[in-house]
Amino acid sequence: MLWVKSLHIVFVISWFAGLFYLPRIFVNLAMVPAQSLAERDRLLLMARKLLRFTTMLAVPALLLGLWLWLGFGIGRGPGNGWLHAKLVLVLLVIGYHHVCARLLRQFEANRNTRSHVWFRWFNEIPVLLLLVIVVLVVVKPF
Ligand code: HEM
Repeated sequence: MLWVKSLHIVFVISWFAGLFYLPRIFVNLAMVPAQSLAERDRLLLMARKLLRFTTMLAVPALLLGLWLWLGFGIGRGPGNGWLHAKLVLVLLVIGYHHVCARLLRQFEANRNTRSHVWFRWFNEIPVLLLLVIVVLVVVKPF
């Protein structure tokens, strides 16, 4: 079980590294002058590769979590509100990942209308989600 939990934590950390950096690229893309096509293409290539890599890391992170829950039975049964709250927040993380993919498609189609300031605030969301999820799973407050 401890091997599975260790791998779960490693893939979760790697997944979040991508979720932290991808919006950073969006901040830069939103600031690229319209005539700087080479810079725009370079940033788009970075974002595409990073999104693909981040998605490949999310799958084992989630599967290992499900293994801990459904396989080893951790968090099952009454008195495990922490896991239910955690799963709701994990759905929000998956939703955030999905929104990043849509925002990238908008940049690729040159249809982005949001400012770099908007993306800086957008970039803070995974920080808050990670903070609350880790407190829920380590402290288990309810
Ligand atoms: C399908 C999604 C997920 C499920 C079902 C799940 C389930 C679990 C379970 C059952 C444990 C073991 C808890 C224990 O031994 O006390 C665990 C550990 C952990 N999970 Fe997840 N998890 C999921 C996604 C995530 C995500 C997205 C994060 C981070 C944002 C995360 C962070 C952690 C951490 C840090 C631990 C180690 C806690 C400890 O050792 O005390 N998990 N997870």
